[in-house]
Amino acid sequence: MITNSQLLDAANSFGTPLFIYDADKIRAQFKRLNSAFQVPKLKLHYALKALNNINILQLLKAEGAGLDAVSIQEVHLGLRAGFSPEQIMFTPNGISFDEFQEAVELGVHVNIDNLPLLEKFGATYGSTVPCCIRINPHITAGGSHHISVGHIDSKFGISIHQIKHIERIMKHYGIHVNGLHMHTGSDIINPEVFIQGANLLFDAAAHFPDLTFMDFGSGFKVAYKEGDIVSDIEDIGIKISSAFNDFCSAYGKELALWFEPGKFLVSESGNLLVRANLIKQTTSTVFIGVDSGQNHLIRPMFYNAYHHIRNLSNESGPQKLYSVVGYICESDTLGHDRLINEVQEGDVLCIQNAGAYAYSMSNNYNARLRPAEVLFHQGELHLIRKREELADIYKNEIELNLFA
Ligand SMILES: Cc1ncc(COP(=O)(O)O)c(C=O)c1O
Repeated sequence: MITNSQLLDAANSFGTPLFIYDADKIRAQFKRLNSAFQVPKLKLHYALKALNNINILQLLKAEGAGLDAVSIQEVHLGLRAGFSPEQIMFTPNGISFDEFQEAVELGVHVNIDNLPLLEKFGATYGSTVPCCIRINPHITAGGSHHISVGHIDSKFGISIHQIKHIERIMKHYGIHVNGLHMHTGSDIINPEVFIQGANLLFDAAAHFPDLTFMDFGSGFKVAYKEGDIVSDIEDIGIKISSAFNDFCSAYGKELALWFEPGKFLVSESGNLLVRANLIKQTTSTVFIGVDSGQNHLIRPMFYNAYHHIRNLSNESGPQKLYSVVGYICESDTLGHDRLINEVQEGDVLCIQNAGAYAYSMSNNYNARLRPAEVLFHQGELHLIRKREELADIYKNEIELNLFA
């Protein structure tokens, strides 16, 4: 795993702000998840919305992952990275039928999350193309309301209480449903949530005779700081595997068990390295102003997410209380009231858990440039995405000179 001095080297060689990912950590997480489930057929589809750099996709492909894509653009990223269409599950929500058809024509697995789409799909493809159905199990799960998506008021999936409607459409058009899917939220720590959802899908399966797989989504929580509560993957693995194997015996067929982890695979592998521009003492607080902000890491402001922050330039100095803030002209707090080894201007800070939903959610607000991305692999630092330049900001702009 990457050391602090290698992180500092990366900041000095490539500049800051910088995203850096540790390939070994991603591999270790994949292996851990893969070995937690004891079922004859397991498939982990990496949710590339978490981090979609082509090198990360290829790393996970080499480990044996498939992909979970939520937009046609993500499907194309997956194909470009070398995944075959059969290795990709397409789970969009609220998209146009044109986009859905493009995915069908590309040959990826398609997951249907509303009845109007199921109706259009049936009318267009009848029994010629199989599909999966995303069920909303009405389970409240996940770390916060922002990332809880399987409850009764959520926009996602077809209600578990609408199975009769699904059946009517299925029979009318002869639709071949080969999979059932659910995803209840992210940052789930209670294994019972998975069991509860699984049991609902097992019951629902009685209405779907042609299933070949079940997809239990994701939501595995990782550590954001030392001693943090995490999903007990091994415990979930034992419980789900046993329930799933029993279900398959009762169903009379050996189905495949699918998951679509994002955060679990890449969150902890990533760090955002930033430099302290300013130490500012106000009447109540000592702020560290850094050369980054919510434009690069939106999770603290968007989800109230905790990201641990360390001073790489001074690992053993006395700890002081700081608030770490970005340079964006909005509320932009990356860490509030944190104990950090004393910081001087120019020091490099490491913001942890910046692998998932960090670069992929970054933007150009305040006309700021996105950072470079670096992969640490076999002891070497590899640049895997260039830092943006000013020209990237205006490349699609059309200057009309209407007001000269
Ligand atoms: C349908 C679906 N699958 C998988 C994921 C990945 O979840 P996580 O990053 O918690 O593993 C998400 C995340 O939002 C999702 O919406």
